[in-house]
Amino acid sequence: MASRPYRVALNGYGRIGRCVLRAWHERSPSPNFEIVALNDLADAASIEYLTRFDSTHGRFPGSVHAGADCLDVNGSRVQVFREGEPEAVNWRGLDVDLVLECSGVYPTRTAGERFLQAGAPRVLFSQPMASEADVDATIVQGVNQATLTGKERLVSAASCTTNCSVPLLRLLNERVGLEYVSITTIHSAMNDQPVIDAFHDADLRRTRSAFQSMIPVSTGLPRGIERLLPELSGRIQAKAIRVPTVNVSCLDITLQTATDVTADAINRMLREASEQGPLQGLLAYTELPHASCDFNHDPHSAIVDGSQTRVSGPRLVNLLAWFDNEWGFANRMLDVASHFLDVAHSHSNSIAKD
Ligand SMILES: NC(=O)c1ccc[n+]([C@@H]2O[C@H](COP(=O)([O-])OP(=O)(O)OC[C@H]3O[C@@H](n4cnc5c(N)ncnc54)[C@H](OP(=O)(O)O)[C@@H]3O)[C@@H](O)[C@H]2O)c1
Repeated sequence: MASRPYRVALNGYGRIGRCVLRAWHERSPSPNFEIVALNDLADAASIEYLTRFDSTHGRFPGSVHAGADCLDVNGSRVQVFREGEPEAVNWRGLDVDLVLECSGVYPTRTAGERFLQAGAPRVLFSQPMASEADVDATIVQGVNQATLTGKERLVSAASCTTNCSVPLLRLLNERVGLEYVSITTIHSAMNDQPVIDAFHDADLRRTRSAFQSMIPVSTGLPRGIERLLPELSGRIQAKAIRVPTVNVSCLDITLQTATDVTADAINRMLREASEQGPLQGLLAYTELPHASCDFNHDPHSAIVDGSQTRVSGPRLVNLLAWFDNEWGFANRMLDVASHFLDVAHSHSNSIAKD
């Protein structure tokens, strides 16, 4: 830990940015950093309002007041910027150790480096980057956070679907071997869809009203999984369907295993992994008769619904894993940020001693 608390800023204060700030305040103890600034295109009054009142997660459990250029949250001052370009914010002057990039509009290394050039020492992205070369590391908490060396400057926390699938797939591949994987993401609506039919520049299906249809959309999930689990390369397929709910999603995962399995044995393995070991706190297991809304505000990366596990023949497995795509992922942003900051601090100390 540094001599002062680490200083973190949010860029983009939409669904994920707001959940990150709120999750920081709801966690006890809070993570090892302070959130000292945020930048979004919205005005201060909207930022205050959207922090206080949230249709999905309810009212903010604390005090929120907007000043001229700041947001006071539970007595902590967060400086507020309203800039569309990273260069317009004086990250250096803010003395931040890390920017959490939550706008989603900087998906490449060239775009991400604009924050570094503007004085931010490192950036953690709330999205998988366009290619592996666009970041120094892609981290899924519980899987590969130990690979961070402290030298990285641009890091991605992957996606909510990658955080749900990769811990499960790695565990199952280690224990029973995976031949092939096919995943259907059933995902709540997002802000990249219109409420009523409207133009979209890249995807005809995303022109359709989010609340009238189940809408197949493209997904980069196989690529995202392969980045973390290259041993499964070429053996994963996925499709994604957006559905008319506001939050909580699930993965319908079909696996061809390399060894004979039973539903009971698979469930036992997943239940045990949720109770002890590196996935404790990240993976949960239930057999209760839940519906998606029961997982709203759930911080886990994946909640396996064991009542839905099916095995056809000895080697064809089908699993259902729930996740709160907002809250679960925002909590992983906090986990990865916290570890990234500690590792970077140790690295700079070791350089200073040399
Ligand atoms: N929502 C999820 O479930 C989820 C889960 C995991 C990862 N993610 C990823 O996280 C990223 C953000 O998603 P989101 O759902 O939070 O989207 P969102 O609700 O649309 O939030 C994005 C925010 O960034 C603002 N913004 C846009 N351009 C900006 C800029 N140049 N500088 C600063 N702020 C800017 C937007 O303002 P305007 O609204 O005015 O444009 C908006 O407030 C995406 O990459 C997404 O894939 C989302």
